Amino acid sequence: MDQTKIYILAIESSCDETSAAVLCNEEVLSNYIANQDIHFKYGGVVPELASREHQKNIVPVVDQALKQAGVTKEMIQAVAFTKGPGLLGSLLVGSSFAKAFALALQIPLIEVNHMQAHIFAHFITDAQIKTSSQPSRKIGTGTPKEREYGPDFPFLCLTISGGHTQIIKVSDYYTTVLIGQTLDDAAGEAFDKTAKLLGLPYPGGPLIDQHAKTGNPEKFKFPHPKIDGLDFSFSGLKSSILYFLRDETKKDAAFISKNLNDLCASVQHTITEILLAKVEKASVQTGIKEIAIAGGVSANSYIREKLQEKGKLKNWNIYIPKMAYCTDNAAMIGIVGYFKFLKKDFAMQCTAATARWEL
Ligand code: KG4
Ligand code: ZN
Repeated sequence: MDQTKIYILAIESSCDETSAAVLCNEEVLSNYIANQDIHFKYGGVVPELASREHQKNIVPVVDQALKQAGVTKEMIQAVAFTKGPGLLGSLLVGSSFAKAFALALQIPLIEVNHMQAHIFAHFITDAQIKTSSQPSRKIGTGTPKEREYGPDFPFLCLTISGGHTQIIKVSDYYTTVLIGQTLDDAAGEAFDKTAKLLGLPYPGGPLIDQHAKTGNPEKFKFPHPKIDGLDFSFSGLKSSILYFLRDETKKDAAFISKNLNDLCASVQHTITEILLAKVEKASVQTGIKEIAIAGGVSANSYIREKLQEKGKLKNWNIYIPKMAYCTDNAAMIGIVGYFKFLKKDFAMQCTAATARWEL
């Protein structure tokens, strides 16, 4: 076997996506994702149903990932899996599968933190990234990079997902420090809860993004939270939107439908301003101008656009992951698995999934 080529099977099952990927070193050979439509009618993820769906999906999803990669299970040298944070019943399915697979093939098991994986998605390469004319996806005019893909160390990553909102300082492949986080709701929750108030189905984030494209971001003003340091808060925004809509619909029952696009654009604009103000503060405090975003909410087109604008203004190098690696996927688990493999940082069979796991 070619020892310079490390084949890793990665499993992600922290929430409502069952995903398996095969990587050869940093390169993604396959990244198969099964979404769970069953939650739509409940307006949010139902943990018990998510766990049962993972049980149905996990074997065919892994089978597909191996087939698409053109790799046999005998070629796999390690199995990386999401240990946490996430829904415990969901994590248990992926972790049990990974443990059994590693035991059967007598290969190492690697546990991965889901939030670290969102950040490390920046180091992924794939056939498309390799042939892209802008492989590093770098915007700005900072110093040239040593590596072809992803940010230079140290960099700051704004990780925005359905459950987390964090600013992380990443010093090397193995050192991450949390320097700011939300004190209540995550940015994704702010999108999803607003969408619910506007009568949009779950998950509302992508729908707000769509409606906002033809809306006026300056039409309605919502207050910004006054939170010290690099921390965030989104619960006040949710309340002010709730009271604003209640008052306006009392005057005109059709207020939401008449103003839907402007409401979406204005809320999205407010969330974006709150996020980017803290990133700017973090950059000033740390002196770091390598700025990355990650997590499901980093798929938002307005946040991507505004971050690029700010990057040009502030002379930052901006790193935005490819869409496929923003929302939950196993490829990002595999890239952390690869770096842990190089350090021989392996887990024991007695390892257990955990709903909470700080970076
Ligand atoms: O990272 P992720 O896939 O799962 C978690 O780890 O939570 O993030 C899911 C979140 C949801 O809140 C979803 O509404 C949000 O990402 N999201 C978006 C967009 N695409 C996904 N929010 C705003 N705009 C989008 N385009
Ligand atoms: Zn996630």
